[in-house]
Amino acid sequence: MLPLAFRLSKGVTSTLAPPIPLAASWASRYTPTPSKPLLNLSQGVPGIPPPDFLREALSERAKDIRGFGYGPVGGDSELRKVVAEEMKWIYGGRKVGEKVAEVEKVEVDIGPEDVVITAGCNLAFVATVMCLAEKGDEVILPVPWYFNHQMTLNLLGINTVALHTLPQDGYQPSVERCAELITEKTRAICLVTPNNPTGATYPPSLIASFASLAQKHNIALVLDETYRDFVPTSSPPHNLFSIPPSKPTPAPAPQLPPQPSTLSQIPLSPFSSPLFSRPLSSPTPATQNIGPWRPNVISLYSFSKSYCIPGHRLGSITASPTFLQEVTTVLDCLQICAPRPTQLALASLINDTRMRGFVSENREALERRHEIFRTSLPKPWKIISQGGYFAFIRHPFTGIEAEVVCKRFAEEFGVVMLPASFFCEGDVGAKEEEGRYVRVSVANVGDEGIREACVRIGEASKGCGWEMEKEREGRGSGFRWQIIR
Ligand SMILES: Cc1ncc(COP(=O)(O)O)c(C=O)c1O
Repeated sequence: MLPLAFRLSKGVTSTLAPPIPLAASWASRYTPTPSKPLLNLSQGVPGIPPPDFLREALSERAKDIRGFGYGPVGGDSELRKVVAEEMKWIYGGRKVGEKVAEVEKVEVDIGPEDVVITAGCNLAFVATVMCLAEKGDEVILPVPWYFNHQMTLNLLGINTVALHTLPQDGYQPSVERCAELITEKTRAICLVTPNNPTGATYPPSLIASFASLAQKHNIALVLDETYRDFVPTSSPPHNLFSIPPSKPTPAPAPQLPPQPSTLSQIPLSPFSSPLFSRPLSSPTPATQNIGPWRPNVISLYSFSKSYCIPGHRLGSITASPTFLQEVTTVLDCLQICAPRPTQLALASLINDTRMRGFVSENREALERRHEIFRTSLPKPWKIISQGGYFAFIRHPFTGIEAEVVCKRFAEEFGVVMLPASFFCEGDVGAKEEEGRYVRVSVANVGDEGIREACVRIGEASKGCGWEMEKEREGRGSGFRWQIIR
């Protein structure tokens, strides 16, 4: 390393280096052949390009004179408008497989003023956290976590508090365990659903319970919904944005404050509003709305996966306009504005029938891919959870850390996967059971690629010379992810 004349920040020197380049270095040592190409299932990337009509719109907009200049910090108003409309459709319930928008039953309370556009969802997370917490504060993350979330917190000097999720629970986080972790320093709980890395998709009732917990403690619930469009169901991913249906025999209406129409009218604390009166202990069925969402809920989204445009860097934050006003200050420093040509192109397409058809076909293709993986993964490898882009699997080799397995499978057999140790911090690889888990992105390659990956995993398992344990029942033993901090 060449010496530097200056000191580096503690934030950066105490943050783990990004793990994807390490996996790429394993992959670079594999010699592909026409019959055995590299199968890179490591980074979660769309395996197909965007559709022709989107590519054409992007190239047209690249020439558009409006795209050359800076735009509004929080995004072009036309895009914010169509994103809000799209969210009304998604969270109002849509029909899977339908190429035509079909809004039904549930009314959704989101408007363009609740949305800002960012240069990707990672940046949305950075901006959000910078507004929520400062050095020494705490943010709760289920572990295994999306490593960029923990890296961001570390860079900002914010302490990550690990909420352990377990294979035997299908990696669903526990609200009760989370409640025990809340201290006066806690500023937010951040959930990723469908999850990266485990693929676990949290049911609406669980998300509602976390929202109630956040309400009770006056903290934020940050939902990273990057993989939202890959949930194979016609019902909304959650009901936090929905307006509760009016009762058939309404009781005398309480005197509610008027709904805010300007930034300054929005209450800063949930408890300043009588709308937040539902006790925490009351049941929260999937269809029940927890109350107005704006004081607590922040939803992040990425256009990278659903639209297959990760290189175009576009994401969004949906939150109270009061919060977004602060976010805009941060975004002005971090991005000035999100990429304009992409904003212009998507503004005209997001609610287009063809675009919705593409997103829904993509979802169906991924569902089939998961099924192929499920039926093709050779025993005694075991799938622990699956959903969105990912499958979280358990390798069968006695006494071998997953990182050693992943390195060897990449270098010698051309199948690149990531060990679970990349999604937590500490000495996890050293323990027998903890070191067993591996993340696979099934989105990166086509159906044939996934079949071929499973064939090679089977061949490699027989040929590697490691002792294989017999097939086990259940979803793995109960262990805790070990965290140093
Ligand atoms: C949970 C999660 N959030 C955010 C991102 C990054 O999204 P973007 O490309 O929009 O920055 C990813 C990408 O893998 C992700 O898995």
